[in-house]
Amino acid sequence: MKAITVIPLSAGSAGLDDIDEPAEDTGSVLVQTVAVGVCGTDIEITSGQYGWAPPGHQKLVLGHESIGKVLEAPQGSGFSIGDFVVGIVRRPDPVPCYSCAVGEWDNCHNGQYQEHGIKELDGFMRERYRADADALVTVDPGLGELGVLLEPTTIVAKAWEDVDKIGNRSHWEPKTALVTGAGPVGLLAALLGRQKGLEVHVLDQVTSGIKPELVAMIGATYHSGKMEDAVKSPDVIIECTGVPSLVFEATQLIGTGGVVCLTGVSSTGHTTDIDVGLWNRDLVLSNKAIVGSVNANRRHYEAASEALAKAPRAFLEKMITKKVPFTDFSKALDHGTDDVKVIITFSD
Ligand code: BGC
Repeated sequence: MKAITVIPLSAGSAGLDDIDEPAEDTGSVLVQTVAVGVCGTDIEITSGQYGWAPPGHQKLVLGHESIGKVLEAPQGSGFSIGDFVVGIVRRPDPVPCYSCAVGEWDNCHNGQYQEHGIKELDGFMRERYRADADALVTVDPGLGELGVLLEPTTIVAKAWEDVDKIGNRSHWEPKTALVTGAGPVGLLAALLGRQKGLEVHVLDQVTSGIKPELVAMIGATYHSGKMEDAVKSPDVIIECTGVPSLVFEATQLIGTGGVVCLTGVSSTGHTTDIDVGLWNRDLVLSNKAIVGSVNANRRHYEAASEALAKAPRAFLEKMITKKVPFTDFSKALDHGTDDVKVIITFSD
């Protein structure tokens, strides 16, 4: 069968390969891949900046944002033929650390976790894969291919859970949220913020096109100027760009008792002069919180699944701006400026 593979840390090595059918010992449920989304992490991997092949192998099958259909499942597994499923990206470390031991692999403490398509486990950009039942989640059948948006939604479901837990360390009545970045993660963060009944503002660079339209579709307000002009002292900021200047600005703009959640993985090497004393004094005197948030556990997959099931379908459909068959995969790695989510299709 065909798979899109890459040699990690080797730029331009992505290719369409023939690989073996999934081995029986890799899981009792056989899944036919329907589509796989492309995100910034995939681009980092294909450009040679990130990624680990499975131990003893040179190549890694790419892809972690999947939607597939069950082809074979044992009785009592909880899955039936034809179910739409998503593979959970991160698997617990083998030790396991105390977080992985209770299923909170997203907070793994020893770094020995593995991630499909990213770290030591083959990803989902292949025609078929196997997984154990506990590594899969079912998606609302009405969503079908749109279930490809589940994994990025899990990232923001976790971010919002972190924000809620931290905000509620004392009596809290949040009203306004700012999301920086109107890419897929930012738009989905805004969607969940609206579902919580917050007034949501989204900041991005572009001044027209599909991003402002998508923001309007969920009843949020789009801004393209300075962060400080978008909204004054918001209760929540979900930072989805990883752009260093925006990250720092967010920690200054956040309101008293507010929470800044950082979800964007920045490139390194950006330095700046800041008055750390002034910055710290403001954080302390105003009870401001900053939290980094990565990955997601099963609880977040379930929350994300509920969020997508009640999201406006037209919004989810419009988020997918490009579909490329796997035979043409290189076109999917070439992200246009007005693209939101690009997906690679493997079957109907
Ligand atoms: C994925 C996460 C993963 C993170 C770090 C993101 O693109 O969505 O599941 O934990 O990259 O590897």
